[in-house]
Amino acid sequence: MSETKSTTGPLAALDERLRDTRLFFTQALRTFHATGSIVPSSPALARAMAEHVRARPVPDEPLRIMEVGAGTGAITRGIAPAMVPGDTADLVEANPEFAAYLEGLLESDPVLSPIAPQATVHAKLVGDMGTDRTYDVILSGLPFANFTADAVREILEYYFEVLRPGGHLSFYGYLYTKEVKAVIARREDYLRQARTSWVVQEWIDRYGVRSDKVLANIPPAFVHHLRKPDKTA
Ligand SMILES: C[S@@+](CC[C@H](N)C(=O)[O-])C[C@H]1O[C@@H](n2cnc3c(N)ncnc32)[C@H](O)[C@@H]1O
Repeated sequence: MSETKSTTGPLAALDERLRDTRLFFTQALRTFHATGSIVPSSPALARAMAEHVRARPVPDEPLRIMEVGAGTGAITRGIAPAMVPGDTADLVEANPEFAAYLEGLLESDPVLSPIAPQATVHAKLVGDMGTDRTYDVILSGLPFANFTADAVREILEYYFEVLRPGGHLSFYGYLYTKEVKAVIARREDYLRQARTSWVVQEWIDRYGVRSDKVLANIPPAFVHHLRKPDKTA
């Protein structure tokens, strides 16, 4: 059961954020590997991530959006105001607590409830989403730095399989993760993360169109925007 309720105004918004943060922190303590952070993303990071929902290539043409690792809806709050009628958003979240909370937010949150008819929460792993749908924009909040290189490659390949030619993938990574791991992590964990970061870099080198530094986030982050090439004749 979600613990959301309907209120409005700046104090209500602050109250919502505190509830998001409390749930997020509790889940991070339970499963840091999948959660990857101790607090939800900031509005600045959400705004940077929503770049390709705002900058729609053809005005009035609906977008098919997938957000992966939606958590407590921090990035979804950046997408929602940029969505127009006809857009659809598949919100994928493996943690059932977060998925149920997100369903509640779609009913009650002042920013998210307007997109409720266009949004579907999928309480599952991204690997179980299948390939029967395609997307114009994919936003990924998955903590790649916690995954193995093979798992990250598989997820990136999946994104590019279901992305339409010319579509965009946006994802973020935290600054200085490798440097911090070099100091505090065990050697095998440091090496695992180094291998993962090579895979991520390979995809950025191949398809990256822009990277933005977002300092107003805990921790500060880089948002990477990748574009799937147009079909060649
Ligand atoms: C770093 S949090 C991001 C949450 C939220 N998007 C934000 O920015 O605050 C990563 C989220 O990905 C979810 N997650 C981790 N692995 C997943 C997977 N394989 N499929 C779907 N969701 C996953 C976690 O449960 C968590 O909510």
